[in-house]
Amino acid sequence: MDAGTKTWRHDRPRIREILRLESSPGRISVEGWVRTVRHGKGVAFLAVNDGSCLASLQVVIDAAAPAGATLPQVGTGACVRVRGRMVASPGTGQRWELAADELEVLGPVDETYPLQKKRHGPEFLREIAHLRPRTNLFGAVFRVRSRLAFAVHRFFQERGFLYVHTPIITANDCEGAGEMFRVTTLDPFHPPGAAGQAAWGEDFFGEKTGLTVSGQLEGELFAMAFADIYTFGPTFRAENSNTSRHAAEFWMIEPEMAFADLAADCALAEEFFRYLVKVALQECAEELAFFEEYVASGLTARLEAVAAAVFERMTYGEAIEQLQRSGRTFAFPVQWGSDLQSEHERFLTEHVVKGPLFVTDYPVELKAFYMRLNDDGQTVAAMDLLVPRVGEIIGGSQREERLEVLERRMRACGLVPESLRWYLDTRRWGSCPHAGFGLGFERFLMYVTGVENIRDVIPFPRTPGNARF
Ligand code: 4AD
Ligand code: MG
Repeated sequence: MDAGTKTWRHDRPRIREILRLESSPGRISVEGWVRTVRHGKGVAFLAVNDGSCLASLQVVIDAAAPAGATLPQVGTGACVRVRGRMVASPGTGQRWELAADELEVLGPVDETYPLQKKRHGPEFLREIAHLRPRTNLFGAVFRVRSRLAFAVHRFFQERGFLYVHTPIITANDCEGAGEMFRVTTLDPFHPPGAAGQAAWGEDFFGEKTGLTVSGQLEGELFAMAFADIYTFGPTFRAENSNTSRHAAEFWMIEPEMAFADLAADCALAEEFFRYLVKVALQECAEELAFFEEYVASGLTARLEAVAAAVFERMTYGEAIEQLQRSGRTFAFPVQWGSDLQSEHERFLTEHVVKGPLFVTDYPVELKAFYMRLNDDGQTVAAMDLLVPRVGEIIGGSQREERLEVLERRMRACGLVPESLRWYLDTRRWGSCPHAGFGLGFERFLMYVTGVENIRDVIPFPRTPGNARF
């Protein structure tokens, strides 16, 4: 804890580091939020947490000492600064404790503070999403989220991928599913143009725009210049599906590789997925132990197995056969040509292969216009990665690099090729085989933490009817 140049308080001791020290640092000052207050014989014990780790620092205050006079103002949730000496803790459960002789209340609380009890259910905590980062569960979730976000960049940067910021406001609906949120400055009460006729030409951008559903199309343009690229940004979908796996705003990682086919795409996805799982195991052990105990028992063993596993591959046709042969009755019956529902995906990954599974080569009718048509003329070079408990976690494909085939596919999907002229230009000039995929960051976090609702792995969930905090 060398003071160095004091431009910001980088010398502020963090509880994470303090608790790991081999010898006492002597006198220190710590700031944090009080998790619990316990009164013993002539002393009070404060558990102070600063978010740097799951564990709180035990602070012992002599009730009769001057610092003790401040104790009546200190309740659960208060923000405090304490000073004193780090001493070996006689109690069990911690190596060090802070024998404090100074106690300052930076932010008092009262009894209406909602996080009084030690444990609350996720539903209640979702109602107070602005305070839930102060709980053990959400502290752990968001530390893992931060670490893995950084690991995403490390993975691609170490492999020479260029990071590109694709636009958030866009005029194209990449997935063509019509799930875009509109972006407009037109007055909704007095729109220009004749009644019932939208005058998008008079809107801010001079055309109909919305929030991006994927950065892929712009990512492809960059792949045609930098070969290997990735995006990592917010993505928006106005699908009104109130499920535990869908959010209206989520973060997606989308790599795109020139000179790559579907097999290379799957190989990258597998390496990336395993890398992130290993990072979680190595760098978030404390958090995983917490999830193991309170959220999903068996989690660590499952992650360790995946970190060492070779992912299975199966074509869509084989998947349909497996489902038909299973003897199960599904809510949605299966036949060649029908979309795989989440019950089917979970059956395949949880019961058939019992691990991660790539399903490839879907019927052309089921997939977006940009996927490369296979030689059979009926399927496209698509892949979905399915994992137990979550279902689809990655969607990707080799892209259609042949201009005429792509234009034909667009028309078949009801798109006017001219509307994506800029995209088609890459096929016109210097086109090349290329492939990519999208990993839903929150779905990955659900997988790695065992948390079952997407609303609990994103700081401020946006779902139908909810954008308050
Ligand atoms: O399968 P999707 O729709 O694929 C794409 O968007 C492609 N453009 C990706 C690419 O090839 N570059 O979405 C990719 C992933 C899904 O597998 C899922 O993990 C996640 O994004 N995802 C969602 N996550 C949370 N909430 C939603 N509403 C999601 N929709 C998709
Ligand atoms: Mg998909």
